[in-house]
Amino acid sequence: MKNNISQASVKTLLAVVFTVFALSSKIYAQDGEKLFKQNCAVCHKSHDDQKLTGPGLKGVFDRVPKGDWINKWILNSEKMIKSGDAYAVKIYGDNGKAAMTVFEGQLNDKDVAAIIGFIKGPPPKGDVVTKGPDPESGEVASSNGGIEPLYLTLGFIVILIILIGSLRSVRASLQNSSNRAEGKPENPEMTFGQEVKNWISGHKRLVGVFSIIIVFIGMKSCWDACYNIGVYYDYRTQKGYKPEQPIKFSHKLHAGDNEIACQYCHSTVEKSRHAGIPTVNICMNCHKGIQTGPVYKDKEIAKIYDAAGFDAKAGTYDNSKQNPLKWIKVHNLPDHVYFNHSQHVVVGKVECTTCHGDVKNMTVAEQKSPLTMKWCIECHRKTEVAMAGNAYYDRLHKALKEKYAGQYDVKFTVDKIGGLECAKCHY
Ligand code: HEC
Ligand code: HEC
Ligand code: HEC
Ligand code: HEC
Ligand code: HEC
Ligand code: HEC
Repeated sequence: MKNNISQASVKTLLAVVFTVFALSSKIYAQDGEKLFKQNCAVCHKSHDDQKLTGPGLKGVFDRVPKGDWINKWILNSEKMIKSGDAYAVKIYGDNGKAAMTVFEGQLNDKDVAAIIGFIKGPPPKGDVVTKGPDPESGEVASSNGGIEPLYLTLGFIVILIILIGSLRSVRASLQNSSNRAEGKPENPEMTFGQEVKNWISGHKRLVGVFSIIIVFIGMKSCWDACYNIGVYYDYRTQKGYKPEQPIKFSHKLHAGDNEIACQYCHSTVEKSRHAGIPTVNICMNCHKGIQTGPVYKDKEIAKIYDAAGFDAKAGTYDNSKQNPLKWIKVHNLPDHVYFNHSQHVVVGKVECTTCHGDVKNMTVAEQKSPLTMKWCIECHRKTEVAMAGNAYYDRLHKALKEKYAGQYDVKFTVDKIGGLECAKCHY
């Protein structure tokens, strides 16, 4: 009798363990779906023809050139179009020259492979719930989430434990009644706690294996959650955020067509933590003279004069009529995060475009990067510290690379100088 029961328990336990494994591998399989929702769903339907900003991706593998074209496109479509790739140029034209986000720096090859796997795979249950981006508010698509598979797994385990527990007490009372019928003494009444204790001491090895698995899954998900912090916020509002500004200021017109250097207006970007937003005096340097523009004629420029207290006809300033411009901040890191522009732009030699996208072609300033902890960390993990210009490190670095080529990873990436330390980014 005892043997039968414990064999049955072993089977139940194995079933639990396998279910946990099956479910957790499903969690990883869903990475592609999650990544797609986070990065692509604003502009694409994954399993549908319907066009949002970008074409519906149903049947896309039959359209695009074979090989790793699609991987390259997803990482950097802009580069593909600029390189003159025939298909890239064609779809760019077909879609009214709408630009797809550049994902290089945000997604790695593994992410892209996961996304492609998701697009190729069957449509997700209860399909991706998206709405097109609202061009007015810059609002990003929303999804109705659903319960995380991990919680499902944990809930399932709890239910099983309760089930096993109650089965055992049923067995105990059955045993007692059969004992009574046979005139043997009753087993003393055991509390549920004692039952569990007894069971555990009878199955030490199994319990050990089981706990290790649970602890491992727990640790892995805590770790992932830690480095993913912010992806959900990102989804809510930030990436793609382009609020309407008090003046229709166009970077395309100024930094693009008229080639005004970023630093002319964002003058502290190389010296301090903040890039800075220009004061109206900077605008007036030019607009005292330039009184009309190509699109809005004098309407928008009049707002500059209003802010500066400038009378364009008389050419005089009246300080009492000044009316400061209230630009709406596009990029918003939470207060507990420390980010320094000069460190990245001057020391790290990272281009503005890497983080801010193709600002020179933006008529309205837009947040192109997620600004999540994951985003910072992934770049720190893979970007090599810029050592050119520092002869000592340059030489040392080259020598090490040659010596250990093929044996060790001798990339001197930002994480190796402390770019993953919590306190470097958090107060
Ligand atoms: C801001 C909107 C936007 C986002 C975000 C976006 N795309 Fe695109 N995508 C486009 C546009 C627009 C095109 C059409 C080509 C063009 O105009 O550049 C396109 C084209 C494509 C194509 C080629 C489609 C075809 O019919 O040949 C693929 C594949 C693609 N995108 C995949 C992705 C994936 C994967 C992601 C997420 C990692 C993504 N896109 C995110 C806008 C976007
Ligand atoms: C390279 C920079 C960087 C490093 C290193 C870093 N973080 Fe973060 N962290 C961020 C950014 C950026 C955010 C804001 C994400 C957002 O709001 O979307 C953030 C957010 C957080 C939050 C969320 C707070 C909230 O508002 O919900 C916690 C908690 C956190 N980090 C803990 C840590 C811990 C623990 C470590 C060390 C393992 C760490 N961070 C290392 C950049 C970093
Ligand atoms: C003629 C002045 C001028 C020049 C040149 C200029 N900017 Fe700006 N920039 C502004 C103003 C004004 C704003 C605030 C209004 C807005 O967001 O459009 C701004 C906003 C921004 C923002 C968003 C800031 C936020 O609120 O988070 C970024 C990013 C940016 N600029 C990057 C650049 C880059 C990169 C260049 C060079 C390619 C550049 N700017 C050139 C005037 C300028
Ligand atoms: C490594 C990524 C990165 C690079 C490179 C970078 N920025 Fe930024 N930028 C950010 C982040 C992150 C913020 C948000 C900062 C905050 O909210 O405190 C930001 C904010 C801004 C702002 C808003 C005002 C401010 O200072 O917060 C402007 C303007 C700006 N950047 C311009 C530029 C220009 C111009 C360049 C190139 C010379 C540049 N950035 C390079 C990441 C970057
Ligand atoms: C270095 C010179 C320079 C500075 C500084 C400058 N602008 Fe301009 N701005 C121009 C030029 C050039 C034009 C285009 C005139 C044309 O093409 O007719 C222009 C045009 C404009 C227009 C008209 C747009 C249209 O399509 O009608 C607006 C609005 C404008 N600027 C706003 C600003 C604001 C706000 C600032 C300060 C943040 C600023 N500018 C700073 C040179 C400048
Ligand atoms: C595009 C790549 C890139 C992104 C994105 C990025 N960084 Fe960095 N970061 C660098 C590079 C490169 C350096 C190394 C600069 C140097 O040589 O000191 C650096 C260095 C740093 C350092 C100094 C580390 C040290 O040990 O001295 C901090 C702090 C930091 N970054 C914070 C952030 C935060 C916060 C974010 C996200 C909001 C972020 N970074 C996003 C590339 C990036």
